[in-house]
This record gives sequence, structure tokens and C-alpha cells, in this order.
Amino acid sequence: MQIRNINLGDKPVLLAPMEDVTDQAFRLLCKEFGASMVYSEFVSADALIRNVNRSLEKIRVDDCERPVAIQIYGRDVASMVEAAKMVENEAKPDVLDINFGCPVKKVAGKGAGAGMLRTPQLMLDITREVVKAVHIPVTVKTRLGWDVPSLYEIPEEWKPIDKGTPFILELAMRLQDCGIEALTIHGRTRSQMYQGEADWTLIGEVKSHPRIHIPIIGNGDICTAEDAETAFNRYGVDAVMIGRATFGQPWLFKDVRSYLDTGKHDSTMTTDWKFAVLKQQVRTSIAYSLAEDCGAKGHGRSELGGIIHVRRHLANCPLFKGIPDFRQTRIRILQATTQDELFALLDEARERVVAISR
Ligand SMILES: Cc1cc2nc3c(=O)[nH]c(=O)nc-3n(C[C@H](O)[C@H](O)[C@H](O)COP(=O)(O)O)c2cc1C
Repeated sequence: MQIRNINLGDKPVLLAPMEDVTDQAFRLLCKEFGASMVYSEFVSADALIRNVNRSLEKIRVDDCERPVAIQIYGRDVASMVEAAKMVENEAKPDVLDINFGCPVKKVAGKGAGAGMLRTPQLMLDITREVVKAVHIPVTVKTRLGWDVPSLYEIPEEWKPIDKGTPFILELAMRLQDCGIEALTIHGRTRSQMYQGEADWTLIGEVKSHPRIHIPIIGNGDICTAEDAETAFNRYGVDAVMIGRATFGQPWLFKDVRSYLDTGKHDSTMTTDWKFAVLKQQVRTSIAYSLAEDCGAKGHGRSELGGIIHVRRHLANCPLFKGIPDFRQTRIRILQATTQDELFALLDEARERVVAISR
């Protein structure tokens, strides 16, 4: 798959943008394990323009993580255009992604993110002007629609060719006409938030439509290598994007890559190796927090900022599933405040994982 001249190879697997998760430290780790492209968390166009320090930190990219996309969100044309130019000039990412999918109230409720699904004409206006304003490729990430009843409701002024055309298909064609160079579809509506199962049927319908020529990236509930393979084989998407399943296991990319390329899982990743990766993740998170105030909000340049940022990942690590009475240890992980504390808890967890696998 290609986005302009960026070659992402065959069956690319992308790291999804996630607020407070996909900072540079985590992106680099996922990249190291084979993510084909990584995305920053979304950054507010308004905050960027106001030169809010934390937002400027969020758009910093390292050459080692390329190709990398920076994602922005906002609700009016002028601020989105200005923010897009800032991102292009200051961060120089490979791709600029626009978020039209965030469901949370503080964003969608104000008309930005998935809120744009209720004002699709404005969504197109923003997209068209952002595409015109920058030289790098612009991509969009969105959802299937606002809610289930609106999945087949097309705005009057769009005059769809066929009655019964899904909204997302009509939207995809129009976004393509605005000049975007790839479209990511999360197979849920805004109303679903993160509940229920992602519906990939409509994603497949967009991908297979003869008028669609831009790459379609499928997203939602990819948790294993087998899920990724099904997404490619059954729905024909050009790439898959993985979000939550990367929590506590950035090595997932290594396994998915191996499975897609060879048909076999990666058998080289031992339990000891995985725990060493988790410790590496802790160290890098602290290092980034100390260097750039990109740890947890409000903790400035501190070890604690990095710890708070990373401990949620660790607590969700799938390696701990099945350990009897692990709840208390998980709580202690979530409350740890130093690297030494976290490492001691990880050592304890490793022994227990080894014990149950004997
Ligand atoms: C903690 C969290 C933060 C997220 N932040 C963003 C974001 O900043 N931008 C975005 O486009 N999507 C964001 N998402 C949505 C994910 O990118 C993705 O679309 C969603 O989690 C579905 O994919 P998954 O099932 O693989 O997790 C976020 C999701 C989570 C769980």
C-alpha cells in the first residue's frame, strides 16, 4: 500500500492514534516491533494555534519513527487550516491525519471529532481547505456514522445516486473528491462509543466500491494476528489499524507481522523477553517524561510523569491474565510511583507467570 510516495509494504499494520497513549516513546517501541506506520494522539487545532506548550510537545516527531502521522481535530475551517500549516512546518510529519471520529463528549459534543458526522458538509469544507493548505498527504479517520438510524441517511443536498447507499460510502467518495490520500474507518457509530462489536461489513463495502481508489484502512477490534488476517482476506482493506490491543503488549506488531508474512506466529518471544520489553517501556517512558514534559498531564518533567503514563499499559498486560488473585498486584501497579517499585512488581508477576506455565 502507498500513500503518495510512502510505501507501507504489503498488508500494513498501523498503530492507532490514542490520547495519552501514543506518545513518542510508545510509537518508537511499536515501530521497533514492526508497526508499518504510527499515529500521534489527536491534537487540538485551537490549542496548537494558541501555542499551548503541551500541544507543541505532542507534535514533535523523531526521524526513527517515520513514517509517522500527526492527527489534529477542530471544528472550524480557519483554525484547522492554520493548525495544519503549523504541523507541516514545525513537526514535518509524513502524513497529516484529521480526526472526525472522536466520540467523547468534550470533543464530539462541541461539534469536533465524531461531532462532524452531524455536519458532514462542514467536514468536507475543512478537509478540502486543509488539503489545499499543506503539501504533505492528508488522510482522514472517522466512524460509520453518528448513530445506527443515520447509517443510511444521506444529506438532502448530496443527492445520492442510489437510495439505500450507506452514509459512510457516500462520505468516503466525497472525502476522496476533497483530495485525501487514505481513509481510516472505525467500524462503529459515535453512539456506540467503544461498546458492542465493530461492524466490518460497511468497511468492506466502501473498500470494494469501484469509485473508491484511495487506500481504505480498517479499524476496530483487531486483537490478534488472526483478526488482522481476516480483515485483509474477508474485507479486502489496504491496511489494518490496531489500538487497544497494543496496551501492555507492543510486541503484538511483531507477531502480527510474522503471521501475515509467513503464516506462522513469532515463536521467538519468550516470557523473559516480554518482561524485558515491559521494563524497557518503563525506562523510555520515564526518559521522555524527564526530557520533554510528555508524561502524564500536570507532572512536568519528572519520573512520576513517565510512571503514571506507563503504569496503565502495564496493568493491562495480557501476560497477567489467568494469574490467580492478581487483582491486588494490578492495583499496586496502578499505584506505583517509582521505577524501582514497578520493576519489583514486574519481577513478582514474571515469577507467577512462570509458575502457572510450569
Ligand atoms: C484511550 C484511547 C484514546 C484514543 N484516542 C484517539 C485519538 O486521539 N484519535 C483517534 O482518532 N482515535 C482515538 N481513539 C480511538 C482508536 O484510535 C481506535 O479507533 C479505537 O480504539 C478502535 O480500535 P481498537 O478496537 O483497535 O482499539 C482512542 C481510543 C482509546 C481507547
